[in-house]
Amino acid sequence: MKKIYLETFGCQMNVLDSELVEGRLRSLGYDFVTDAQQANVVLYNTCSVREKSEQKVLSRLGRMKIRKQSEPDLVIGVIGCMAERDGIGMLRRLPQVDLLCGPGELDKLPGLLENVLATHRQQAALAGDTARRSGTLASAGEDRLELLDLSRSFSPGKNKYQAYIRVVRGCNKFCTYCVVPYTRGPEVSRSPQAIVDEARRLVDAGAREITLLGQTVNHYIYDDVSASGPSGPMSRRTTFAQLLRRVHDELPQLPRLRFITSFPADFGDDILQAMTDCPRICRYLHIPAQCGSNRILKLMNRGYTVESYLELLQRARSFMPDVAVVGDFIVGFPTETDADYQATRELAARARYKNAFIFKYSPRPGTVAIRRHEDDVPEEVKQFRHQDLLNLQNEICHQLNGELVGSTVDVLCEGPSGWNQPAESVIAGAAGGHGPSAHGLGPRVELGQRLLGALRSRTDGISEAPPESSGHIQLTGRTTADQIVVFDGPANLEGLIVPVKVCVVHGLTIFARIANSATISPTHELAAAI
Ligand code: 5AD
Ligand code: SF4
Repeated sequence: MKKIYLETFGCQMNVLDSELVEGRLRSLGYDFVTDAQQANVVLYNTCSVREKSEQKVLSRLGRMKIRKQSEPDLVIGVIGCMAERDGIGMLRRLPQVDLLCGPGELDKLPGLLENVLATHRQQAALAGDTARRSGTLASAGEDRLELLDLSRSFSPGKNKYQAYIRVVRGCNKFCTYCVVPYTRGPEVSRSPQAIVDEARRLVDAGAREITLLGQTVNHYIYDDVSASGPSGPMSRRTTFAQLLRRVHDELPQLPRLRFITSFPADFGDDILQAMTDCPRICRYLHIPAQCGSNRILKLMNRGYTVESYLELLQRARSFMPDVAVVGDFIVGFPTETDADYQATRELAARARYKNAFIFKYSPRPGTVAIRRHEDDVPEEVKQFRHQDLLNLQNEICHQLNGELVGSTVDVLCEGPSGWNQPAESVIAGAAGGHGPSAHGLGPRVELGQRLLGALRSRTDGISEAPPESSGHIQLTGRTTADQIVVFDGPANLEGLIVPVKVCVVHGLTIFARIANSATISPTHELAAAI
């Protein structure tokens, strides 16, 4: 039996594509292994968003070239955005690559693989020049891709409790720096019925948190042209707010529903109202600003201003004061001056993100920005701005997380954490109790202990005794704001929503204790488990 090693780079869209590909190939009898050395087929699901992501794949391919000299039957495949962006020329430049498959052609992957195995000749399926297809071709392509989504296997994956569903494919925004509209094609929304059905099957298979995915997920819009009314055919339109309500209401047993990534322009109050009304939709928004200078936003073709962006955050917070907002920034876009960068810093300070992803501009072949502008911000300036913005964001994270100390938050317990020491060793130490010595502790615990002095004042208010710990192991979970929480508890809490009291916060990690039974409401699942 052929053994496949599949490594995934890049965004959640790629994680989902890999899951779909793995499910399809498994159903055809292929086996999957976690060690590339054991595999006779090695597939890389690639990302082209920044040059660095492509370099990682090129270095893997370099290693595979050497391996192939002694194992000529080894099959090497490049799938995803890099295959699409680089195109057929990659097969000439990198003869060790046997197979290329773009993200819009993944339904063809089993056929390509079969052909490579049978003929030992290079195979490719790329959207190529048809990437920005006409409406008709796009819908023909979408039908094929829809089948790939629909044929997904619903056996629990690597993350048993968390699942993704694609709701919008592709992107129409054409931000000048970005390759995605070229690699993933035009924006197409999936039918709400297909989405609800998929969500139901995932919940039946054990999913406790579903994330709806789209590059511009809030722009989801579906017109059901087949719908008919009393006077013949009519179009029934589903907006994103309606989709959210439908998934929420039709799956009352799903504890958490979230969505990423939102585009800042045209973000309607109807979505904010749906989030406010539906208690199981996480109050979490990932809305990239990219930059705080209106001049650069224009060059990026983002279609909004700093003022309208901040107005959106204010609107979101007026609907949901506790909403967690996460952002993305690109520093060092061509022509960015110190003043432009200061404006970005100011925006980050005003936005007060729970978390922010910060990138240095990377010129990408095929984009408008690389054609129009020289990459004129020196690397050391980019590096400085990147680090400076990270420092600022870390400070904001510390402050926001510090404000959580003493409060009770719900976490979805994901199971045992990767490290051996109990969370109590950090909590007790930080509270001035008798934590174990730092000797032999895991690096994160040691880090936590080094912070004792600084943290002590934050935990003064916590007088709870450590809970009964016999039979407890160290567990991790995530809050609705997607923050990691470490706490001790019985192993059977895995997969449940557990209320915990925040005791100590270090960076992005929260150390907590299971909340007193008095604070556990009947809606929590903890009471049944312990
Ligand atoms: N250079 C740097 N960052 C980029 N991103 C997209 N394209 C580029 C690029 N060429 C970032 C944006 C986007 C995130 C997914 O990646 O911030 O939101
Ligand atoms: Fe790229 Fe802009 Fe589309 Fe996001 S919205 S995927 S940054 S083009």
